[in-house]
Amino acid sequence: MGTKKRILFVCLGNTCRSPIAEAVFMDLVKKAGYQRDWEIDSAAIESWHVGNRPNPRAVAIMERYYLGYDNRARQITTEDFYTFDYILGMDDYNIEDLHELRPKDATAHIFLLGDFDPQGERIIRDPYCDNNSDGFDKCYHQAMRSCKSFLEEIYAVD
Ligand code: 4NP
Repeated sequence: MGTKKRILFVCLGNTCRSPIAEAVFMDLVKKAGYQRDWEIDSAAIESWHVGNRPNPRAVAIMERYYLGYDNRARQITTEDFYTFDYILGMDDYNIEDLHELRPKDATAHIFLLGDFDPQGERIIRDPYCDNNSDGFDKCYHQAMRSCKSFLEEIYAVD
């Protein structure tokens, strides 16, 4: 593959869902030997958690599935819409916000991560206000299915 591909995972706070998706994607490309093909990052719609590590329940899920993660939350910028090839949101609110923030001449393609789920579960629900970790675990499995099939699509056409 020639130039690097750039992918940005986005959710509301960049502290629950998008860090899990980013960690899953990083792990998949690493294991497949594609690490040098990709620039991978995640970002928030809102600025609330900027500079913070992911939510402790997201960290616990990453540890459960042996995913390394070293990133801190940041907010999406206008530049991101030009530098990333793919911007993947978690739910319809993210997609609505992303389309509002996207400059008209931007080059990034915006999708739901769940658009790639072979089981057709399109929405990765916000688990932040849940009183348990089930939503985080479910997010991991949804992200795993979708990231795998996203990569299969990319490498099938490249
Ligand atoms: P995320 O979850 O978008 O998956 O990171 C949330 C994190 C924080 C908040 C909402 C959702 N919050 O309201 O602070």
